[in-house]
Amino acid sequence: MPAPIYEMLIKYRESRPLAFHMPGHILGRGLSEPFKEAGSLDITEIPGADCLHAPLGVIREAQELAANCFGADFSLFLVNGSTAGIHTMIRYAVNPGGKLIIGRDCHISALNALALAHGEPIFVAPKVDREHQIPVGITAEDVEEALKAHPDAQGILVTRPNYYGMAQPLAKLAGLARRYQIPLLVDEAHGAHFKFHHNFPDTAMELGAHLCVQSLHKTLPAFTQTAILHGKKDYVDRRRVELTASMLQTTSPSYLLMASIDQARELMERNGGSLYDGLWENIRSFDAKLVKTTCLERVTTPGKEVEADFSRIVLDFAKTSLSGFQAEELLRGKYGIVAEMADLRHVVLIATPFHIDHDFDRLLTALQEMSRDYGGCQKGREPILWPVDIPERVISLSEALFSEKRQLPVQKSEGAIAADSLIPYPPGIPLVNPGERITADIIQYICLLLSQNCPVHGVDGGKIQIVDTGAMNKI
Ligand SMILES: Cc1ncc(COP(=O)(O)O)c(C=O)c1O
Repeated sequence: MPAPIYEMLIKYRESRPLAFHMPGHILGRGLSEPFKEAGSLDITEIPGADCLHAPLGVIREAQELAANCFGADFSLFLVNGSTAGIHTMIRYAVNPGGKLIIGRDCHISALNALALAHGEPIFVAPKVDREHQIPVGITAEDVEEALKAHPDAQGILVTRPNYYGMAQPLAKLAGLARRYQIPLLVDEAHGAHFKFHHNFPDTAMELGAHLCVQSLHKTLPAFTQTAILHGKKDYVDRRRVELTASMLQTTSPSYLLMASIDQARELMERNGGSLYDGLWENIRSFDAKLVKTTCLERVTTPGKEVEADFSRIVLDFAKTSLSGFQAEELLRGKYGIVAEMADLRHVVLIATPFHIDHDFDRLLTALQEMSRDYGGCQKGREPILWPVDIPERVISLSEALFSEKRQLPVQKSEGAIAADSLIPYPPGIPLVNPGERITADIIQYICLLLSQNCPVHGVDGGKIQIVDTGAMNKI
């Protein structure tokens, strides 16, 4: 399989050029030893290297190969992660001041993009699997309600899969988007690998999304920051998407990053099926031993509408005396195993075809010891009831984010306007977002979580950031 950008870089290096061009390290000469090898491929837009902003050569070819591989009509390489793609999708879909129907479990970049566009989020709360306290996505019914209330909405943005690897159904949402003639935008940052094995959920492109973004760096063998924005041409204006992405990306995109996207796609297209067959077998064997030899449960969703990514190992520590945070620390401190993230109950690990049998054995041994030392407990089964109501919006996202702020003890914040999102994990859904009113229920819930040593993102030393309305009035 060709990998045009990668091959061009190798060829250039082999030609032993005398470089009098950017970057200033001159093909690695000025870099420290560990960087030299990578630096020898780090070039700029020299003849033959094409240009990301007006691709006609190797970049165009590589993007076309990617589109073909991922089932899109067109694909754009991103060198600032899915963050850049989310900004592009939102800027593309939402006119200044326009509305976007958006799952409340969206990534921070979606809120930032809306704030910059002076857009208005119309939040839809995701459903939560009450047994495991994990969000499983927004329903088409809830989105339809939101659309009826806001028929002027300019798009729908869904995060699928989420951090826990849960992939919600999309077909009905795609139908709704078509009916309302607005684009369905999917943040598929965590699902770039779905295309490469039949046991993964179908991809957003396959399920009718109009634009979707994938972080290659999260799950595929690619450098950090690499991502792709995919589009379907029947519903979106490709030229305007390209223009928007171009406005948001650097004029000096890293060829290492672009070649890494190219090469990851090539490897997966050529060999992804058998690589993921291997992972599937490893995971099945790991699961069977986990069930037999520990009291830990792996969270999956058999038989439910929501599908689970089999490569995301979500471990529930509810039957141990450990919180997810403590388990993560123990795994790291005692066993040298570093997880992707933890919450009050769970530890989330990302498994890839590049983990070998021995890695799973080592993980299993650690979990067996932890189960033996801390198991036999029955805590945490009862769901904690979080306030599901979305609070009143008092000022716009952009006003709140760009306002003067001050800190306030959370207990004293009733009635204040949040300047930050306050997010407990689980379920990773904001209790309050910037510009929304903080209620007594929210304060009570945060205090309950803090009393259980559950950190709440946005709460620092018992204090939160609120909008300084005094300063606002002065302006
Ligand atoms: C759901 C989701 N979307 C988007 C992003 C942003 O992706 P990137 O880091 O590639 O910019 C993240 C990052 O963690 C994420 O979790």
